[in-house]
Amino acid sequence: MYDFAPPSTADKAQCYAQLGEAAAALVDGEPDAVANMANIAALIWQFVPDLNWAGFYRAIGTELVLGPFIGKPACIRIPFGRGVCGAAAVTAATQRVEDVHAFPGHIACDAASRSELVVPVLRDGHVIAVIDLDSPLPARFDARDAAGIEALAARIAAHI
Ligand code: SME
Repeated sequence: MYDFAPPSTADKAQCYAQLGEAAAALVDGEPDAVANMANIAALIWQFVPDLNWAGFYRAIGTELVLGPFIGKPACIRIPFGRGVCGAAAVTAATQRVEDVHAFPGHIACDAASRSELVVPVLRDGHVIAVIDLDSPLPARFDARDAAGIEALAARIAAHI
């Protein structure tokens, strides 16, 4: 049994630091990418409050394909350039969207989603996946959330 508990503090930097430590411990020595993505999605869900979806899309060919996640069943294939995830994949840059209804081409997988954070996972300079977080709260994600998930992405890139 793994018993990682998010810190009782509301300090985001501390929460993300501990999330990173827990993720590194979970993937250490485990070569299976699916198992690692599944555990990391579960950790994000446990450590980051106010989410309705958290998980991975993997870059395969010219599209993103759904990976392990927590949340409602989601769109399976997203062409590069489409939606928030597709934008993160083609630009290799974090997309932080305060109001998904105002984002051109946003793909609604859960009607409850109001804001979204998508962070590319890079290996050898290439986008291999994106980490997608959705929230039912508008403007849920700030720069500290983006920095925290970017640090997580860098930490796990070699393990997924
Ligand atoms: N909203 C995303 C699609 C994925 S779901 O949110 C899980 C997008 O616009 O790319």
